[in-house]
Amino acid sequence: MLAGKKILLIIGGGIAAYKSLELIRRLQDQGASVTPVLTRAGEEFVTPLSVSALAGVAVHRDLFDLTSEAEMGHIQLSRSADLVVVAPATADLMAKMAQGLANDLASTLLLATDTKVLLAPAMNVRMWEHAATQRNIKTLRGDGVGFVGPNEGGMACGEFGPGRLAEPAEILAAITAELNPQTKVGRLAGRRILVTSGPTHEPIDPVRYIANRSSGAQGTALACALRDEGAEVVFVTGPAEVPSPKGVEVIAVQSALEMEAAVQAALPVDAGVFAAAVADWRVASASDRKLKKSKDGLPVLEFAENPDILKTVSRMTEGRPPLVVGFAAETNDVVENATAKRLRKGCDWIVANDVSPATGIMGGQENAVILISDQGAEEWPRMGKAEVATRLAARIATALKGAH
Ligand code: CTP
Repeated sequence: MLAGKKILLIIGGGIAAYKSLELIRRLQDQGASVTPVLTRAGEEFVTPLSVSALAGVAVHRDLFDLTSEAEMGHIQLSRSADLVVVAPATADLMAKMAQGLANDLASTLLLATDTKVLLAPAMNVRMWEHAATQRNIKTLRGDGVGFVGPNEGGMACGEFGPGRLAEPAEILAAITAELNPQTKVGRLAGRRILVTSGPTHEPIDPVRYIANRSSGAQGTALACALRDEGAEVVFVTGPAEVPSPKGVEVIAVQSALEMEAAVQAALPVDAGVFAAAVADWRVASASDRKLKKSKDGLPVLEFAENPDILKTVSRMTEGRPPLVVGFAAETNDVVENATAKRLRKGCDWIVANDVSPATGIMGGQENAVILISDQGAEEWPRMGKAEVATRLAARIATALKGAH
């Protein structure tokens, strides 16, 4: 997709700078040539040697080296590229760009270029949300600068929120879309896809509920990936930790019963992706008043089984979506359990993952999945949830190609 394209990649300082190494490799896999520039701060996180070894060319680090090589070298450097990418783009670099400062090689290149610039920001969540950064983003957007990310999630500094560098796959997709505008018409254009996501909250009384540890991260990432492939996404979500995606129809629910009703109302769809961690049981008769402590003993909760939404939709005789995808959260014998689950539920695919606490997957940023279909079990390497979503969306697009 990127054969012959020249990318000038500016690597800013930040804990996520290591991901730029992966980006270089992926760009090269697509046929692009990468000219890397490493800022002083970037050098604290990745070494010039690793960057130039991967890129196969010298890494540019110093403004004055460059100008001594050839007059106006920095201008040539920035203008010969088809696209200038900054990953990670720090708050400092963005502030310099917004102000037009040029006091080192990176900022000089960014000021001297007449080529489109794509920023992949990464910073602490407070820095991202700061009024100054938000002002700079507005200015930069107004100047025609493109953005990919940042993603939401846990940060290296222990805080949670927007600020994580987009995954290399997402940055690559943004670069490809920028350089091949025709790819912006997604493969799922005209398709309506339902995604369930997040936990459910099963009420005990008006103030208490039973829940699970699902953050909604994987379902949200999927909805974004399907949207980015051009699908019309109906996103039925329980009370998730991560904010709902933009550009999709969001239906917020609390309980499994509400989720079931919302799913039924959303049909018909071309595909249903059931990523929600639906509670298997609800409290049989939730109290409409707050339960009080009593001398007469402890409250006893009786449970009733919730409807199995995935199974119901999979087994519809009329109007079943052409593709139904379930998820299986397992803690042991993942392939065996998930294979049996696929047959029991009647869905087409099961995306299985090991959620035993040691994996850190539930509520975490990464996922290691096994895709189970009638073709057998296909193990995917451990990768970011966004990348799992991108891949799954691509597979869904392929599967729906022939369906009407
Ligand atoms: N699911 C659903 N409705 C339910 C329970 C689960 O739609 N009431 C869906 C989930 O969204 C997921 C799949 O079913 O896609 C697997 O859910 P899971 O809880 O892992 O499987 P269970 O059927 O509960 O099996 P078990 O508890 O035996 O693992």
